[in-house]
Amino acid sequence: MAPSLYLFLFLLIFNSGNRVASKSKVRSFPEGFLFGASTSAYQVEGGAFDDGKGLSIWDVTSHEKTSPIQDGSTGDVSANSYHFYKQDVEIMKDLGLDFYKFSISWPRILPDGFANNVNKAGIDYYNNLIDEMLNNSIKPFVTMYHWDLPQQLQKIGGWTNPYIADWFKDYASVLFENFGDRVKHWITINGPSEICYGGYGSDLLAPMLNMTGIADYACAKNVLLAHANAYHLYDEMFREHQNGTIGIALNFTWFEPTSDNPDDHQAARDARQFLFGQYAHPIFTKEGDFPEEFKRKIAGKSAEQSFKRSRLPELSATEVTAIRGSADFLGINSYTTKMVYRDASIEGMYPVPSYMDDMGVVIVKDSMWPQSQTDWLQEVPWGFYKMLREVNRLYDNPLVYITENGWSTAGGLLDEDRIRYLRNYLSALLDAIDAGCNVQGYSVWSMIDAFEWRDGYNAKFGLYEVDFSNEDRSRTPRKSAFIYKEIIKSKSLDPHYEPEVYLEEVPENEEKKDDYVYNK
Ligand code: NOJ
Repeated sequence: MAPSLYLFLFLLIFNSGNRVASKSKVRSFPEGFLFGASTSAYQVEGGAFDDGKGLSIWDVTSHEKTSPIQDGSTGDVSANSYHFYKQDVEIMKDLGLDFYKFSISWPRILPDGFANNVNKAGIDYYNNLIDEMLNNSIKPFVTMYHWDLPQQLQKIGGWTNPYIADWFKDYASVLFENFGDRVKHWITINGPSEICYGGYGSDLLAPMLNMTGIADYACAKNVLLAHANAYHLYDEMFREHQNGTIGIALNFTWFEPTSDNPDDHQAARDARQFLFGQYAHPIFTKEGDFPEEFKRKIAGKSAEQSFKRSRLPELSATEVTAIRGSADFLGINSYTTKMVYRDASIEGMYPVPSYMDDMGVVIVKDSMWPQSQTDWLQEVPWGFYKMLREVNRLYDNPLVYITENGWSTAGGLLDEDRIRYLRNYLSALLDAIDAGCNVQGYSVWSMIDAFEWRDGYNAKFGLYEVDFSNEDRSRTPRKSAFIYKEIIKSKSLDPHYEPEVYLEEVPENEEKKDDYVYNK
């Protein structure tokens, strides 16, 4: 063998050995890194009609005569956290969480959506929850809006009505006044792209308006203005005394081109601009406003379609300024990756006009990637890494908290696939930190099983299983809960760690799981 070939083989073996070693060794999280878990009001609270709470769009949608929910269920009771919140705090303690991301139900605080009528029982409930958490040293990360809009506001257009930016500001003011003395991390709005495209551009989420290419863009502008209003209100009236931080949580799916062809690379960039650039660019770039290419595409298509103006409403100079820089941190909800390309097959693929037609890309799944119980969710940790690098590059290395990341199963306590997913994503996160990304916290979706929107209770995301068939809604830790607990305790990722309780006590047979006793 020629010496150069020896050298090549030596390097190959040496390097690949190194790579394996680096993935199998114990890796530590940086000093001060925060670990959390997430839920949202409609998904876990229940108490939907209790103590003066008003109706939300999800109360209405889930009670439609022909149920749009896969298993015909509702969030009326769900995990009943409205009554069992102390058990949730027990779980937070057991896991050793630094923080818990939960949301406040707007109609539980303001039954009609407006701030003239504040529901005292709603204020009491969140006061109790926050105090119970603080007594156990768990920081509240409070989301003001996680999709349960007061139905009264929906009647007058909901997020498509420009006045909502003021109504949201009034709601935010009630929250700062009542809880701001103890809440130091606020998230104004969770998942604008799901709110706007899911709720107004399609029928994937309430209010299922399904008016794509128009209502989704009107919603986007109003969500940005509502967010900026809450941010400036905090800045001007509350920050000085309350000393907290305030940000927004956006959905960051990664889009990867299917080939090296420049068209496919452009398609991937376009898909990213439509999904997250639409919201992140106006807030997190120096120039602000919607991304140029995004504006140009929609304006061009609108003109071709004989609209008198772009279907994407403009942001005025004053609005651009108000939105730009209106966040102390970026919350990232990220679960998966999709492949995209652009070729002639796109002709006639999407309705005209529509958000998908404006974006103009074909989105596909790679069947080789591990598949969860949820159709859109596959495990692709390298996509998570690439997404974090791109966020760093596009938005000048913002302070990031991963506000949601997680995996769904069909149920059961032995959730090896969730464990693999969490470990791989956390490892990708550490790679991103090593590469310079300023990620300071991570929160798993979800702490306990929850109502998964149109999937009802068919997809289980919880570290803890909830028994929805029993009145007590008993909560049982899955194997992943023990793994996450150890990660938090050791502040490190040990790919070989096995919780003893699971080695010894969990019966193989799922039916016998009642016999299984776990360490509490
Ligand atoms: C993001 C949403 O914020 C949350 O409500 C949902 O349950 C998870 N994705 C999983 O679909």
